[in-house]
Amino acid sequence: MSTNEAVDKRPATAEEMASRPVRFAVVGTGGMGGTHARNLAGSSEAEVTWLVDIDTDRANKLAADIGGKVTPSMDEAFSSGEVDVALIALPTGLHRMGVEAAAKHKIHVFCEKPIARTNEDAIAMTQICKDAGVTLMVGHVVRFFSEYMRIKEQLEAGTLGDIAMVRGSRINPPVMERSPWFADVAVSGGVVLDLMIHEIDTFRWMFGDVERLFAHGLSFTDWHTKRDHAIASLTFRDGTIAHCEASWAHSAFRTSIEVAGSKGLAKHSSFDSSTLIFEPSTGVEYEGIGQQSKQFTYMRPTVTPPHLRELLVFIDCLRTGKPVPVDGDEATRTLIVANAVLDSMRENRVIEFNEDGSVKQA
Ligand SMILES: NC(=O)c1ccc[n+]([C@@H]2O[C@H](COP(=O)([O-])OP(=O)(O)OC[C@H]3O[C@@H](n4cnc5c(N)ncnc54)[C@H](O)[C@@H]3O)[C@@H](O)[C@H]2O)c1
Repeated sequence: MSTNEAVDKRPATAEEMASRPVRFAVVGTGGMGGTHARNLAGSSEAEVTWLVDIDTDRANKLAADIGGKVTPSMDEAFSSGEVDVALIALPTGLHRMGVEAAAKHKIHVFCEKPIARTNEDAIAMTQICKDAGVTLMVGHVVRFFSEYMRIKEQLEAGTLGDIAMVRGSRINPPVMERSPWFADVAVSGGVVLDLMIHEIDTFRWMFGDVERLFAHGLSFTDWHTKRDHAIASLTFRDGTIAHCEASWAHSAFRTSIEVAGSKGLAKHSSFDSSTLIFEPSTGVEYEGIGQQSKQFTYMRPTVTPPHLRELLVFIDCLRTGKPVPVDGDEATRTLIVANAVLDSMRENRVIEFNEDGSVKQA
């Protein structure tokens, strides 16, 4: 029988995936695909059966380290009967092609963020996965960093009181030299869809939907093929004001977040050794997290790396039928805000949102 012959295709069931390691085809074996493939190969919960990349030299190098068969063809891997999940780590403008191919073969999908380059692609991909009966999760990994998880917990517990203001930054060296496709805003969405989308997603997770925004940046100037930088100011429906900064113009990677509320401040910087600090306001004592201290410091625990943690959560959802934490609809709502940041920057205007998350027509 040819490997391309359709053989009663159906998605792998929870029972099947609970009884053995979940079998992944990693599609795109560059920076992010390589990280995911190595994490999966090191976990007893997963097996990397295929590495798919048009750059077969790159995929072969990875296979020499972690195993797996190599092909430039998604169809070959997806028709093999050896794949439960496709992990799509292609350039952003190709995510739709990868997700659609997997759904056509009834293969579950973990897709890197952003879900797609355009809102239309994201909506279509989400529907295609629903129609095919396959589970789609999108890799908004910052929700799986322990400091951000801890802040979210404390927001839900009310520790910081009413939140007024949040600031988030994500700073990186330029990435277009190693992967030129990032320089094409039409394919990558520039620094906003690569980096700022993490702050937009995390803040949506913490504070809910966005009401309006305004942004500045370099993505539509002559600068953007070598450097990119963007700042955006967002107002959430709950009243929180957010300042987001993203950069491909620095010499080292760095992230930070500050959340200011009526009862104190939480702050985290990836450059600090004490990675998360809670500072109560004068006269306020935090219950349970250091009543006597002026500052409570949360040291970085020795934990599962966030990029592996998100995949282990995904595997658990596949095996138990629990809903995934970031599905296609959720990732699309984040993408709509990120694309509005780009529109605001290009058109120099405030953008407002309807209650359903769509953009209000000007
Ligand atoms: N969650 C995170 O922390 C994080 C970090 C970095 C990148 N990403 C996302 O991951 C995705 C990939 O980024 P990257 O930095 O790994 O890019 P990359 O350029 O390093 O890797 C992309 C790979 O895709 C391969 N490829 C291109 N076209 C292909 C095709 N048609 N078929 C098969 N393979 C093809 C390329 O040869 C390359 O190996 C992007 O969407 C990016 O936004 C996420």
